[in-house]
Amino acid sequence: MAETTFYNLIENLENYLEYQRDEGVQRVEVDRAVLAELARIPEAEPSVEAAEELVATAVPIPEKFQSLEEIAMHVSTCRNCLLCAARMNTVPGEGNADSPDILFIGEGPGADEDAQGRPFVGKAGQLLTRMIEAMGYRREQVFIANLVKCRPPNNRAPLPEEMEACLPYLRQQIGLIKPKTIVGLGATAIKGLLGKTTGITRLRGTWQEYEGIKLMPTFHPSYLLRDPSKKKDVWQDLQLVLKELGKEPPARK
Ligand code: URA
Repeated sequence: MAETTFYNLIENLENYLEYQRDEGVQRVEVDRAVLAELARIPEAEPSVEAAEELVATAVPIPEKFQSLEEIAMHVSTCRNCLLCAARMNTVPGEGNADSPDILFIGEGPGADEDAQGRPFVGKAGQLLTRMIEAMGYRREQVFIANLVKCRPPNNRAPLPEEMEACLPYLRQQIGLIKPKTIVGLGATAIKGLLGKTTGITRLRGTWQEYEGIKLMPTFHPSYLLRDPSKKKDVWQDLQLVLKELGKEPPARK
């Protein structure tokens, strides 16, 4: 089926379902095979021309923000890279910004994060929350951010130019938050922040440094969802972080 025909069909279907909902219909039956097929269809990316027009109107990122709120405000209208064209919400990050023990840094928002404007709230985020709790913290006691603040379409990894365009925000966030340690989740976060291209399998569990702050690389929670056998490696890495902070994990219930 030609792509335009497919998207027209989806639009008609959306209109039809909205009409049904307005009419009071609360349930529709959908064949599993249809759902599986829909999940396979790549999302339409905005045309490069349209995105480039937006980027041409970008406001430069100030060299010194005074607060995280100011950063979030600037991010919310940022048009420094093509990711701005397809986002629903920007995801600046959230948590304890007052020199928390740990700043977790992921790659970039996924669909759930894009919809809610909050970091790590989907499946991988729920796993991250459990990891944080296993360390003896509540989610609000640490800070959680991403390398890029807008969702890359189809959850692809951010491109080098997208990371470069967004990095000034994260750098300034780190400068304001002053975390005691950083946990870099996955290869992309490490590459963006430290410029290291060594594989995460080799880097994980080895202390690195970002501007004088100790940084522990570990596997990304999405990877753990695909390969749960790696959870024990991550737990070892997180225990090193606790040790550095002079803490012990709480006794397991
Ligand atoms: N994956 C990330 O890297 N960041 C999020 O916020 C969610 C999923």
